[in-house]
Amino acid sequence: MATLTEPKSDFSALPEMPADVFTAPLQKPAHLGDDWLEPKQAEYGPDQDAIWDDLFNRQMSVLPGRAATAFMEGTEKLDLGRGGVPDFGRISEELDKLTGWSVVPVPMLIPDHVFFWHLANRRFPAGNFIRTRETFDYIQEPDVFHDVFGHVPMLTDPTYADYMQEYGRAGWKAMKYNRLKALGALYWYTVEFGLIMEGDDVRAYGAGILSGPTEVVFATEAKSPNRIMLNVDRVMRTDYVISDLQPTYFVIESFDDLFRQTVERDFDRLYTNLPPAFTYANSAIIDVDYVVSRGTQEYLLRGGRGSGAEAV
Ligand SMILES: [Fe+2]
Repeated sequence: MATLTEPKSDFSALPEMPADVFTAPLQKPAHLGDDWLEPKQAEYGPDQDAIWDDLFNRQMSVLPGRAATAFMEGTEKLDLGRGGVPDFGRISEELDKLTGWSVVPVPMLIPDHVFFWHLANRRFPAGNFIRTRETFDYIQEPDVFHDVFGHVPMLTDPTYADYMQEYGRAGWKAMKYNRLKALGALYWYTVEFGLIMEGDDVRAYGAGILSGPTEVVFATEAKSPNRIMLNVDRVMRTDYVISDLQPTYFVIESFDDLFRQTVERDFDRLYTNLPPAFTYANSAIIDVDYVVSRGTQEYLLRGGRGSGAEAV
């Protein structure tokens, strides 16, 4: 059993990780401190700035009417389309005025406890590199476009910004109970692949959806996926796919709803009752679900990515 102590309420210092708490075996580059932050943001040349611009323009041709209003407004508030990879100092200044967040450069995926610590202090770690033309459509490791274009506009929304901080705080508790997998599912189905109701429409607010051209259409309009109202307990018991379109998306009523469902949750009780493995398959619909639209799962049944199946 893990022995991580209760988090301090100020989260100001990065606590020691006890040896019996599992973390992914990541090798920290020698020039970085325990916070894993790069001393400064990478400098980008004209070719790399052009990659940002092309990615930005491609997304802007599909996002209107499909992305959450808060996201679209966030891209404007931060002027992410001014040309080239944004300067983290400039967007942090803007963000600080709006919600007290900042964006900080990291070289790669960072350990969970360090990631949670930054979020708990309202710092968003963003990749310090951009994809190449060869990997323009899909990269495994999150780059500056995924992190800044996909995640940062939502941090201009005050309630969402608070949710992200609470998520960071909740991370410590998940590690104590060894239930990171469950908390990871919550991140996956909200921060990366979340949908929100806006009137009668569903719109996307998750960065995994918003930073690519295909999934935003699939998630909001296709017949294949299930769309189910978010229930935090249920989501934390649900498996997810990493390298393909999602068979199921979870929908929130509002960011207040998301914040309340998370903050008011008794995570001690939840983690005590959660089994270590997921209970529900990622395409399942269960008795307690409030279903917005039941998917045909045609895309998945035809074989998904690699099979040539259309994302319908
Ligand atoms: Fe992400």
